[in-house]
Amino acid sequence: MVFDMVSLSAENRYKLLTATVVPRPIAWVTTCSADGIVNAAAFSFFNAMGNDPPILAIGLLHNPEGGAKDTARNIIATQEFVVNLVPESLASAMNITSAAVAADVNELELANLKEIASLKVAPPRIEGSPVAFECRTFQAIDTGPKQMIVLGEVLAVHIDSQYVLDAERCHIDTSALELIARMHGRGWYARTLDQFEMKRR
Ligand SMILES: Cc1cc2nc3c(=O)[nH]c(=O)nc-3n(C[C@H](O)[C@H](O)[C@H](O)COP(=O)(O)O)c2cc1C
Repeated sequence: MVFDMVSLSAENRYKLLTATVVPRPIAWVTTCSADGIVNAAAFSFFNAMGNDPPILAIGLLHNPEGGAKDTARNIIATQEFVVNLVPESLASAMNITSAAVAADVNELELANLKEIASLKVAPPRIEGSPVAFECRTFQAIDTGPKQMIVLGEVLAVHIDSQYVLDAERCHIDTSALELIARMHGRGWYARTLDQFEMKRR
């Protein structure tokens, strides 16, 4: 069956994309408003896009009720954000911070999460997240009237020492991070522990 993406409604395009482009890693993004209010929310239109410079990409859609999300507004205002990765142990907290709440609410406090000061940017990272990327906006691209992509240059990455196998060689115990990914629908997730190896040719 072919679905004509040009004539489909935006809602149905969303369903087809998110039901098939899986699993998607989750960027748990912390930002600060121009007034310094800390914000956190999850984004699964997310991936790493290059290493020289190191670039992460995040797809931000407008709120269903209209208007840019707080994360998007804050990134445009301050040009800084932190991408925290999500272990299964913090899945529920991540979900709480991603609820639609007023811009003046600190979502980390809402989820009983602690902030850790970043080194190079103002937004803090989230305690308990095993990996956090401190980013400065490389480019923000409007890809439609209700969506944008933010490319972030990674200035520093924090990786909990217990997962660093060999710091000199930058070897990380990826499986031990127990990161989760987003699947189809609003509530389905995947673990990253079902793996197989294939030797490179
Ligand atoms: C696992 C997960 C993935 C999400 N992925 C996206 C996404 O890729 N893009 C997006 O615009 N919203 C996404 N959302 C919804 C936002 O997190 C949600 O709209 C949030 O309230 C935005 O918060 P903010 O207004 O504080 O930025 C996702 C939510 C969850 C729970």
